[in-house]
Amino acid sequence: MIGNDWAAALFDEGYEETFRRLGKYDTTERDIDDLVRLVGLAPGSRILDVPCGWGRHAGRLQSLGHKVFGVDGSASQIHRARTMWPEVTFQRSDMRNTPPGPFDVILNLWTSFGYLPTMEDDLTALRAWHHSLARTGCLVMELTTRENAEYTNRVGDELSTSKVVDINGVRETSIIDWGTGISRNTYSRDGWTRTSYLRLYRRTEIEDLLRQAGFAAVDQYGSFTGEPVSDAHRTIFLAYPISPGRVSPRPHVPSSHRAAVPHDDSGTPDVPLPQRLSRETVAVNRNEPSLDGGQLSAFLLALRWWAARDRLYFDPVLRE
Ligand SMILES: C[S@@+](CC[C@H](N)C(=O)[O-])C[C@H]1O[C@@H](n2cnc3c(N)ncnc32)[C@H](O)[C@@H]1O
Repeated sequence: MIGNDWAAALFDEGYEETFRRLGKYDTTERDIDDLVRLVGLAPGSRILDVPCGWGRHAGRLQSLGHKVFGVDGSASQIHRARTMWPEVTFQRSDMRNTPPGPFDVILNLWTSFGYLPTMEDDLTALRAWHHSLARTGCLVMELTTRENAEYTNRVGDELSTSKVVDINGVRETSIIDWGTGISRNTYSRDGWTRTSYLRLYRRTEIEDLLRQAGFAAVDQYGSFTGEPVSDAHRTIFLAYPISPGRVSPRPHVPSSHRAAVPHDDSGTPDVPLPQRLSRETVAVNRNEPSLDGGQLSAFLLALRWWAARDRLYFDPVLRE
């Protein structure tokens, strides 16, 4: 079912225990509770978790009253998930072949993107998720980006980085080739040895892929609590088929925590802005024609400056 031999081997009965020993599941409940707030999940939301693994996020969300559908390519992960959370619907299928939905939220958590053989395959998965998402829905991706991998591992401009760590009886050997951007990780314990391959994407590359897949707006955060993006942490991407400013209130995250906003005044352009800008503010301003021509020009100039500086995406509506 899983297209890659290495993935079929890794995600077997021994995988859950290996990563439990590495402490990877310790924050599952807290992450989900924070994610619910970040996305502004309405009660009873229809959620697709892809790939869901053994269902740790899906089970938590179902227990909070949402209607969850989990998809994973591994027979053993799906079997385990069904055993643990019989009330959740689980389906064994490739991540490029998702149920039609529509879903209010699609989750792709814990760096579960970049496994497929080619970038085109990864884009196919994003297109499938876009297709399964309600027009007013939101895709949530949590990823170790290339920036995060470099920050954590790379010394200077070395061509590759090798690292070995031992935790609770598990040895993890990682080799990252900075030329190809492929991270190769081998996990060994008690006679169980498996290897994974991950294509590391830069944040801008993820945004580009999301836009190619049809998403109209993308926000980024440095945590599920809505902290600013940082190379030191994984990135949370919230991608919307249509700009949420047009259809529904934005998640309740302080504007000072939003990735698309400069957080201090250093280096900002010397133009009179109507107020500090966030995407929320922008969405509001679109509906309030209270700016005069000069303010509007300054406003658009500032937007263009920020977009060029941070290579951030702004809603096409703003360019009209
Ligand atoms: C790192 S785990 C994450 C699972 C889950 N999101 C979590 O946080 O526990 C990655 C999952 O991707 C699944 N997977 C890998 N390749 C897949 C594919 N082509 N289609 C569907 N699932 C796939 C594996 O079976 C595994 O359960």
